[in-house]
Amino acid sequence: MRKTRLLVVNGPNINMLGTREPALYGGGTYQDLLALLEATARALGCDMEHVQSNAEGELVTAIQEARGRFDAAVVNAAAYTHTSIAVRDALLASELPFVEVHVSNVYKREAFRRRSYLSDIAVCVICGAGIDGYRMGMEFAARRFGRGASEG
Ligand code: DQA
Repeated sequence: MRKTRLLVVNGPNINMLGTREPALYGGGTYQDLLALLEATARALGCDMEHVQSNAEGELVTAIQEARGRFDAAVVNAAAYTHTSIAVRDALLASELPFVEVHVSNVYKREAFRRRSYLSDIAVCVICGAGIDGYRMGMEFAARRFGRGASEG
């Protein structure tokens, strides 16, 4: 049986974790996040690919190219969550079930962060759990959509 395949997508400024507004995003660095993604994939026995881009079009292309190649995705589109119909349309076109993740609790912040172009098409949303939210999202996605997973 082939392994479950998960895609993790990170949007703009996620590569600045660790130095960026640590009171909001925590002290964990981007390298810590990458290590967490790898460790989680290993623990789950999944194949995992990760893409991070600061450019909307690159995210759109990466999501388009994911069509048919993954069982599910974990997506932190960062600021594009609140602005990008293009990222939303790419996720719809890819037909990939996805978990929307935010490191910070967007509901405790500015009002504009409460609008997401993704939440209503996401399977679930995890926010405010810090970078651990990615682990939670990957575990959920693998359980729900992985090889041998049963709906529930
Ligand atoms: C974020 C929340 C967004 O509002 C913000 O623009 C980000 C990161 C988060 O992970 O908490 O860049 O998606």
